[in-house]
Amino acid sequence: MTRDLRIREHHALAFDRGREVTIFVDGKPVRAYENEPVAVALFAAGRTVLARSLRFHRPRGAFCLAGACASCAMEVDGVPGVRTCRTYPKGGMTVVSRGGFPKVTNDFLFASDFLLRKGFNYHHLLTRPRFLNRLLVGVVRRMATEGKLPPTPAGPPPVLTHRACDVAVVGAGPAGVAAALAAAEGGRSVVLIDEEPAVGGRLRFEVEAVELPGVAGAAPGREFAANMPGLLAAAKVEVLARATAAGRYADGVLLVVREGESIALRPGALVVCAGAMDQNVPFAGNDLPRVMSARAVRRLTNVHGLCPAVATLIVGTDADALSLALRLPEIGVRVVGIVEPGTRIMGPRAMATEAQRRGVPLFLSYRIARALGRFHLTGARLEPVAGGEPITLRCDLIAVAGRNAPAYQLLDQAGCDLRLDPARGGFVAELDEDGRTNVPGVLAAGEVTGATDLGEIVRQGRAAGLAASDWIGSPSNR
Ligand code: FES
Repeated sequence: MTRDLRIREHHALAFDRGREVTIFVDGKPVRAYENEPVAVALFAAGRTVLARSLRFHRPRGAFCLAGACASCAMEVDGVPGVRTCRTYPKGGMTVVSRGGFPKVTNDFLFASDFLLRKGFNYHHLLTRPRFLNRLLVGVVRRMATEGKLPPTPAGPPPVLTHRACDVAVVGAGPAGVAAALAAAEGGRSVVLIDEEPAVGGRLRFEVEAVELPGVAGAAPGREFAANMPGLLAAAKVEVLARATAAGRYADGVLLVVREGESIALRPGALVVCAGAMDQNVPFAGNDLPRVMSARAVRRLTNVHGLCPAVATLIVGTDADALSLALRLPEIGVRVVGIVEPGTRIMGPRAMATEAQRRGVPLFLSYRIARALGRFHLTGARLEPVAGGEPITLRCDLIAVAGRNAPAYQLLDQAGCDLRLDPARGGFVAELDEDGRTNVPGVLAAGEVTGATDLGEIVRQGRAAGLAASDWIGSPSNR
């Protein structure tokens, strides 16, 4: 156990890492802490290649650290395909990387990335005769699995409990917390479900001052997030943390899964505040490890207290990107540039001005053309959008602030009408002004609607919580 990127003394932030434990990654001991996911512990240890891609054996590493991209999947305690950014370490846990020969960090099959780049398209390979196609499909299916399920599940099977509540809220970010508090005002029983270990969502890594509707004064988002458990407890909202709303089934039953337990929850109304999924932007090499979403980098620095790089390029100019440009240098990370293909800043202008004043170069009307490095990230090539001389910058981390896509899946499963709205980032549900969908008793609020403004997100959450409470209050809906 040698490398450790954790910050021990931060000038402004404190980090609650929990108890230290040792996990075993590909047979080697790695220092981990109970409150930081396995993928973060690996990043802290300098281990960023977690798997290899099926086709060209390109290295894969964590991108979103929010459970949405699956690029951090590894085998954990014998179970393949586990999202390690959503898995918390326990002493003695075994983690195995998949897809490399002889190992993911030194993979001979990576040669296929050069040799077969143009000539291997398995979609068109051996489609005839039929028996050969069946044979090939069988082989490809076997290759596509990331390991084998153990013959018998480890430990006792999860306990299934049946419960009911008035309102279930999925997602404990700013919208979800506002919805839960509003629904609880009328004395409704409210259950708030989130995959994170703590409530607050994006506010948990927000170190900039923000304002929330109905709250006097501005404060760092982290402080608002820290106050939320007390508010929820006072309102008697039950919080199910580290729990996944795995699906909505017949009669509106919501299956909630958490360690050792499955809950068949029957809510009178469901408010979906599932947030948004971090998206990459298109450029060559954007799949390299250490190309990460800006929010993932903020999570690493502000929640888990890691110094993630020596030099970082930031792609995009929204508030997440600009906050990184200001905060990374405070922990000793050089920001080699902020790239924006448009002609104007997307986030707060004052933050961009301050970043420039501190010496961070701003490349307006430039786009990132390529991430450099075959085995690991070494830099990036930028090109002027209007054509001209490219620029090469050296960096060991690229933070991408792309347009996030609404996490619409639970709404889709509930049968809500969806439409594709590129301006809102993807598929969004058709909603009325209070967040009601076309499915009775199912509502939505927050980033899942495509909203990005924090004030709007909180307003939506409150409106949906009140509407859910009203729905329950109607005698015909009991
Ligand atoms: S799902 Fe784990 S990094 Fe995206």
